[in-house]
Amino acid sequence: MSRLPRFAFIIHPIDPREDVRRRYPWLAKVLPEKWIHYLSGLWPPLRLSEIEGVTSQATGQRIQGWLLACPLTPQRMRTSSLDFVYRKIIQTGRLAERLGAQIVGLGAWTAAIGDAGETVARALDIPVTTGDSYTVAVAVEQLRRAAERLAVVPWPAATVAVVGATGAIGRAAADVLADQVEQVLLVGRRPHSLQRVARALQARPRRAHIEATTAIERLTEAQFVLSATTAGRAIIHPEHLRPGSVVLDVALPRDVSLRVSRERSDVLVLDGGIVRVPGPVNFHFNFGLPRRLAYACMAETMILTLERRFECYTIGRTIPVDKVHEIARLGAYHGFEVGPWMSLGRRVRAEQWERTRQAAQRASAPHR
Ligand SMILES: NC(=O)c1ccc[n+]([C@@H]2O[C@H](COP(=O)([O-])OP(=O)(O)OC[C@H]3O[C@@H](n4cnc5c(N)ncnc54)[C@H](OP(=O)(O)O)[C@@H]3O)[C@@H](O)[C@H]2O)c1
Repeated sequence: MSRLPRFAFIIHPIDPREDVRRRYPWLAKVLPEKWIHYLSGLWPPLRLSEIEGVTSQATGQRIQGWLLACPLTPQRMRTSSLDFVYRKIIQTGRLAERLGAQIVGLGAWTAAIGDAGETVARALDIPVTTGDSYTVAVAVEQLRRAAERLAVVPWPAATVAVVGATGAIGRAAADVLADQVEQVLLVGRRPHSLQRVARALQARPRRAHIEATTAIERLTEAQFVLSATTAGRAIIHPEHLRPGSVVLDVALPRDVSLRVSRERSDVLVLDGGIVRVPGPVNFHFNFGLPRRLAYACMAETMILTLERRFECYTIGRTIPVDKVHEIARLGAYHGFEVGPWMSLGRRVRAEQWERTRQAAQRASAPHR
């Protein structure tokens, strides 16, 4: 067995037909989608590929990893018992152990389901991390850079709405944002848990004014929106958004309706949590991003492996901001970078920025 530090990362089908097509093109042609959801639960965990070439820019350390599939679609996770879903994730974690991984990362809904990794971590013999700390760090940095690039509203004067503010990523992102911007609008669907989060965030002295709302229409007040829910379908529609706003969609599957990109050329929708990995990395598997790019949650597992910090770094729904800042610092040290601007999987063009900038200028001009 190789002596390199070793990790595994668990992914699952997000877009059932597309994901099946990548591995079994013939099957995707004949299977109705509801069968894919059903059959996903019967499939055993899979070793998808070996990840090679991740190399620290600071130390030259290389690491070795595996991409594993927990074959449950979001819909199958939502409609199955929590016990069944935990069992499937734990089975996939056991596969990571057998391969010799020293830490395993949970991707997308395998991190969000139930108690956000706590039960899975207790069951496995190797440490587990959700990757949410680094996802928050990267998402907030993406929005800050978007504000800098638009150069209409200075970041410290911005209003940022966080959709899914009661979730692990949403809450921690709001926590970090509250130290940077003028106003943070927490958007959620359950008033009590939303108020609990608002009170917890207001308990520390802050730059930002923090408000909570269940009215998604109030997104029109925000120049920037960060969305990270597990709705599993579009919940942000064209009529919800302010002209010239930037929406960072961190959710997988996406929270922002495809209609926004089609009908609102004055709004920029950005793909959230995308990073460039240092070294000649080859994932040997197409999970939907261009070469050398990865999701931030995957990158957190890689950063911890480069550091040989084999510990349950991010688990559960309350993520301390210190962890977000620490993993951001470690990521930068090893050469991880915020990825290129992408929207719906495509590079953002200069004219898209320009249209958004002009609309933002008009929206923020004082009315006569
Ligand atoms: N891009 C990346 O690198 C990356 C990395 C990790 C995760 N993710 C994605 O980020 C998202 C959030 O993950 P998480 O770990 O923060 O999940 P989480 O802790 O389970 O939080 C989910 C949030 O979504 C809200 N929600 C659920 N269903 C909803 C609906 N129908 N309408 C409105 N809000 C709804 C929940 O509200 P309640 O409190 O009311 O239930 C909660 O605020 C997921 O889609 C995940 O796949 C992306």
